[in-house]
Amino acid sequence: MYPIIRNRRLRTSKALRSLVQETTLTVDDFIVPLFVVEGNGVKEEILSMPGQYRMSLDVLEDEIQELVALKLKAVLLFAKTDDAKKDNEGVEAWNPDGLMQRAIKTVKATNSEMLVLTDVALDPFSIYGHDGIVAGGKVLNDPTVEALCKMSVSHARAGADLVAPSDMMDGRIIEIRKALDAEGFTDVGILSYAAKYASAFYGPFRDALDSAPVDAEDIPEDKKTYQMNPANRIEAIKEALMDQEEGADILMVKPGLPYLDIVREVKNAVQLPVAVYHVSGEYAMLHAAAEKGWIDYETAYLEQLMCFKRAGADLIATYFAKEAARYLETH
Ligand code: PBG
Repeated sequence: MYPIIRNRRLRTSKALRSLVQETTLTVDDFIVPLFVVEGNGVKEEILSMPGQYRMSLDVLEDEIQELVALKLKAVLLFAKTDDAKKDNEGVEAWNPDGLMQRAIKTVKATNSEMLVLTDVALDPFSIYGHDGIVAGGKVLNDPTVEALCKMSVSHARAGADLVAPSDMMDGRIIEIRKALDAEGFTDVGILSYAAKYASAFYGPFRDALDSAPVDAEDIPEDKKTYQMNPANRIEAIKEALMDQEEGADILMVKPGLPYLDIVREVKNAVQLPVAVYHVSGEYAMLHAAAEKGWIDYETAYLEQLMCFKRAGADLIATYFAKEAARYLETH
């Protein structure tokens, strides 16, 4: 009790503060999301995500080399599909020569040690912008899971280390696990987006991939029948426990900052590494505030990343990964 106990004593110098720091951030914590497009020499900046690009596969090679030099170890790939290749079933998603499959091979050919994680959901391939197959005004669960299995196997065949289902269909983890095993991909892992909320913070991402749900009759206008209600907490634990039981290797919570309580709850409930996705809208907000001079950019994003770790995240998928790696190398 005060005055015997003075908490400020351990805060008196930088050295002492470092000594008693409970959480640390390292380059091994990061997963780097990357957007790929068809073409050659393409490096288009995404308007709502300054400093993030859609890149063609030749540019991807350079990017991977930069990431390796920064000691970053994992990328999470998203492919922007040409409109002509979209349909309701997402058939392009398991085309062995599809953009995603070629992107996986490009990363592995550039550096075989770079871990490749791939987004598994139909939205970039769907004419309706939904994560699953649409019929009768609904997003169908079981037929979508079948499609996701084909997609996952096709990513594994191209060389993916982990597939990352982000669709929120029920039962997809066990079915994907079985499909991978049946094809001999027993070592390909599953990072499950276990608690993914129907969030406003995905806006810039949907711009990046042109994957927003379309506005048409008999097409669900949003993703609320599969992504979770932001008001729910216990449901997130249920989702996480079910995915753990179904064989997921890593569980993810998404978005990040508004859901730190969920990160902690999930971390306490499971025996798996927990990842968090610091999503596009969060990235955009910080950039917008910094551009106006209303916030100190570097201190703010580093604080956010640290807080994910403190909340219980073992891994962070973040668009700040490269900058953070550069910072950590020199500090
Ligand atoms: C696709 C997917 C989304 C994100 C990752 N995978 C968008 C969505 O569900 O609509 C969002 C990532 C971000 O906002 O940075 N299923």
